[in-house]
Amino acid sequence: MIAVGSDHAGFRLKGIILDFLRQRGVPCRDLGTTGTDAADYPDFARAVAEAVRRGECSRGIVICGTGIGTSIAANKVPGIRAALCADPYSARMSREHNDANVLCLGERVVGPGLALAIVETWLEAEFTGGRHRRRVDKIAAIERDYASEHATLEGAGDRRSG
Ligand code: RB5
Repeated sequence: MIAVGSDHAGFRLKGIILDFLRQRGVPCRDLGTTGTDAADYPDFARAVAEAVRRGECSRGIVICGTGIGTSIAANKVPGIRAALCADPYSARMSREHNDANVLCLGERVVGPGLALAIVETWLEAEFTGGRHRRRVDKIAAIERDYASEHATLEGAGDRRSG
């Protein structure tokens, strides 16, 4: 199952991508937005990233104007490796080397034909593991280290206030 979301600036491309996936029989879930009224990209990046984190969807695709805001936001969710791609080579590498589980696209950056080529490449590519596994594990270690620092600081705050 592929989770797909966008803000207003990615709404048109979201529809094109959903049609493309459905035509190919790829199960997908539309997590909004529902129109071209202004909407905040972190809300949709978060919804897609959390669907992937919870395991409801194996991967996600998020679109905004540039893809930058959605990639920054999606990468805040632990376990998410969101890759902003504007070409099929980067899309393939983001799977093979980085095990990216969220693809971010900018509707104002790539045309629909290129966007669909990126999506198709990204969906077909697989993580190659090996030395790349060690590096991806180091990304997870950064998350863990900062999560434990946060817990330590919270604890210190509790002790101070007590
Ligand atoms: C919306 O105008 C725009 O800022 C948003 O879609 C995205 O490009 C942000 O990174």
